[in-house]
Amino acid sequence: MEDNEVKSKKVYLSNYGCQMNVRDSEVICGLLKDSGYKICSDEKQADVIIFNTCSVRQHAEDRVWSQIGAFKKTGTVKRKRNLRDSPQETGTVPIIGIVGCMAKNYAEKIFERSPDVDFAVGPQDIDKIPDILSRLSRNKEQSPKSGDSPLFQSKIWETDGQIRPDEIYHNNFYQDKEHAYLVISEGCSNFCSYCVVPYVRGGLRHRKVENILREAQGAIAQGITRITLLGQNVNAYQNGDIDFSGLLQRLDKIDGLKQINFFTSHPKDADPDFFKVIRDSQKLVKSLHLPLQSGSDKILKLMNRGYSAKEYLALIDSYRKIVKGGLLTSDIIVGFPGESEDDFSRTFELVNKAEFNAAYIFKYSPRPHTEALKMADDVERADKEKRHARLLELQRGISNKKNAKRR
Ligand code: 5AD
Ligand code: SF4
Repeated sequence: MEDNEVKSKKVYLSNYGCQMNVRDSEVICGLLKDSGYKICSDEKQADVIIFNTCSVRQHAEDRVWSQIGAFKKTGTVKRKRNLRDSPQETGTVPIIGIVGCMAKNYAEKIFERSPDVDFAVGPQDIDKIPDILSRLSRNKEQSPKSGDSPLFQSKIWETDGQIRPDEIYHNNFYQDKEHAYLVISEGCSNFCSYCVVPYVRGGLRHRKVENILREAQGAIAQGITRITLLGQNVNAYQNGDIDFSGLLQRLDKIDGLKQINFFTSHPKDADPDFFKVIRDSQKLVKSLHLPLQSGSDKILKLMNRGYSAKEYLALIDSYRKIVKGGLLTSDIIVGFPGESEDDFSRTFELVNKAEFNAAYIFKYSPRPHTEALKMADDVERADKEKRHARLLELQRGISNKKNAKRR
């Protein structure tokens, strides 16, 4: 696309899912801005509508499908394909893209379910979006994978990328003026049996220390004072001989950086040495998100978590002794395959003992590709609801008590 053609194009981006996705959406906006697009906040004005999607639970995917449906109902997604070639009309025919975990999960099947979607791009292919948009806008080039079906002839999908070029992180596009998310590692190789992430985001890859520091310095130069380090398992960070504490020591020394947070940690990689790093870091927020998932050893084993309930309790005990007054939050899944009333009461008891400051409680949702998909989803829906409500109520009481004490 010629530069002057791109300049008037507006992109609306709708984000779903975790902080990693929030950062990916910023990266996409930065790439598109650098290519001459304008980012807009009203989808009705948009020439391009992008959904950056989440596949972690069925509910997250359902929201995206229904959102696309809603766009259709309000007439935003008009299928006047013959107008695509006429420049004066292009503004009325938005290009629709599904990006992120759902794109990886479904690839070209997305177009069967929703023929209004024009392109699909997986999490490891986001650097290709400007080029794809340019090809779609010209409406000339066809997908090399288009096959025989007429449905696919105008579609483009890129979902098989393995790595992201590090340069995409350096376009300095941050939504917040003072706070930035900073990815330190991508993907995950833990293969918890319920989790789709290793399949949609690939195996664990660590960014190079010098690239992370360069991005941090770029962000600070533009006024950022607080950063949150992101990775599925930040405490497993390793680049050459530099581990997470080595990385923090280097970040601690950057002038102008006032506060560092991080998200998420895995209990099997956390130990007292890691807690001492939290205690000793000048700029780290004294807070730890340590997903428990279940309080039953039987279920933890089926989940492939790599620790027992007793080990988890000992770990948080050590955290609280070392990081005095530190906050502790967690994630819990109820209704995992095979979870009996007895298993659930073990989770209930552990949550009661652990006294998290806050906990996110989820109902188990079977996910494609995962090991747990092979297990029968045998906890009745009503039981999942009941257990979910009971844990929420318990945690609400604990959170209120803890917050009252902190005031
Ligand atoms: N069903 C329900 N919850 C899930 N999570 C991940 N996968 C699933 C699933 N299939 C939850 C976990 C994780 C959080 C980000 O989402 O608790 O820690
Ligand atoms: Fe984020 Fe996980 Fe959803 Fe992917 S599947 S967007 S990693 S929450």
